[in-house]
Amino acid sequence: MAGNWKMHLDAASAAALAREVANRVSRAHHCDVAVMPAHPLLPAVARVLDGSSVGYGSQDISAEEEGAFTGEVSARMLLSLGCTYTLVGHSERRENHLETDSLVHLKTARALQAGLIPVVCVGEKLAEREAGQTLHRVETQVTTALKDLGDGISRVVLAYEPVWAIGTGLTATPAQAEEVHEFIRSVVGSLYGAAVADGMRILYGGSVKPDNAATLMAEKDVDGALVGGASLTAESFAGIVNYGD
Ligand code: 13P
Repeated sequence: MAGNWKMHLDAASAAALAREVANRVSRAHHCDVAVMPAHPLLPAVARVLDGSSVGYGSQDISAEEEGAFTGEVSARMLLSLGCTYTLVGHSERRENHLETDSLVHLKTARALQAGLIPVVCVGEKLAEREAGQTLHRVETQVTTALKDLGDGISRVVLAYEPVWAIGTGLTATPAQAEEVHEFIRSVVGSLYGAAVADGMRILYGGSVKPDNAATLMAEKDVDGALVGGASLTAESFAGIVNYGD
């Protein structure tokens, strides 16, 4: 269960939110819990979360190892701050920063090489869904992002986030989510075999809230949630993490 804090908060409010999240999810043993603050907030969040059950990671990572890449953040920098995870290929990066499927692949490989767990985001836009291209689009994204990852594949987490459901209040129905999750697992299976596919954690993202988390999580191939807006208060994020209570 991961909270993507996007470009919200500041050092003090991020630390306070992290503290409250850690308190509210400390008894959640059914899943891993992580938050993804913006890069400059990571040290403040790390100070609070180190030693707790809540992990943390970044919202993006450079595909490059090091060098003259102004504004970019390297895997090594993230590791030195204690990150376990990094989001890769979030739709807002694809849309606003023109990230391509092949760049998403390079970032995924870079994260794995450095020892970070990449949470690789895929999902179709509304026009693609309406044109009946959802599975085709997702297949291309998954196949490109995950090619030639070797043993690292077992550490990859996927997140299916239909773009039309992000921040809109429109959630995919559990059946719509399950259709794509099941398909993604089959694509991973054809690339890396059934054991890898069965072990892969596939998160759903897009307007997940405490009141819809349980029905989404009840689906066979929905293993967790990547939460945006509802991760910005500890009460609602914990309500999602603890959906079974
Ligand atoms: P919302 O939960 O605000 O729809 O955002 C989802 C998301 O983009 C998480 O990465």
